[in-house]
Amino acid sequence: MDANAEAICCEIEGKLGYPCFVKPANAGSSVGISKAENREGLIDALNNALIYDSKAIVEEFVKGSEIECAVLGNDNPQASGVGEVVPCNDFYDYDAKYNRGDDSVICIPANMNPALAQQIREYAIEVYKVMDCSGLSRIDFFCDKSTGKIVFNELNTLPGFTVISMYAKLWAQEGLAFDALVDKLIDLAFDKFASKQRKY
Ligand SMILES: Nc1ncnc2c1ncn2[C@@H]1O[C@H](COP(=O)(O)OP(=O)(O)O)[C@@H](O)[C@H]1O
Ligand SMILES: [Mg+2]
Repeated sequence: MDANAEAICCEIEGKLGYPCFVKPANAGSSVGISKAENREGLIDALNNALIYDSKAIVEEFVKGSEIECAVLGNDNPQASGVGEVVPCNDFYDYDAKYNRGDDSVICIPANMNPALAQQIREYAIEVYKVMDCSGLSRIDFFCDKSTGKIVFNELNTLPGFTVISMYAKLWAQEGLAFDALVDKLIDLAFDKFASKQRKY
């Protein structure tokens, strides 16, 4: 290992410790993501993430349930109720999402305190507005149900629409069926396009 890599590992160990999560800065579907448990794992994880992007993100391990919220709209976005993913692997890696998707459990609504779920919905709207989203996004959090601590994980501007994907299921739970959801998304896209045209 060269001196620079040694310094990077020492900094990560000092600031975050183990386990930590290493991700390509720009990817999805858990591609290139690893949980590093020690120095050797960290080096492997960094090399793996850097296959997919020239930048890697290293995060502290966050303990908590994986809670997702679907947001829909342009200027006046609405949040669905929240759902929970219980991965069949140690974390929700590619294998747990796509190869063993049937073994990972999706709970809609999430089994949690309604006030905590409401707080997550409000945070989801806040994130959506801060990031200036339009149309749709799925906003994912970690939540420690015993302490009530909520940590924002990521924003998915184009969430999956596979049979296991949460976005459409969350809206179906709110009474918005798949075809009506798609119609709504098309209307929102036309509205956004029209409002952009007016600006120039
Ligand atoms: N900081 C973290 N602490 C604990 N688990 C994490 C952390 N970051 C990611 N994970 C796990 O890795 C999975 C994929 O990471 P995520 O950031 O959601 O990337 P992707 O965009 O590929 O879905 C998450 O669903 C979760 O299971
Ligand atoms: Mg994710």
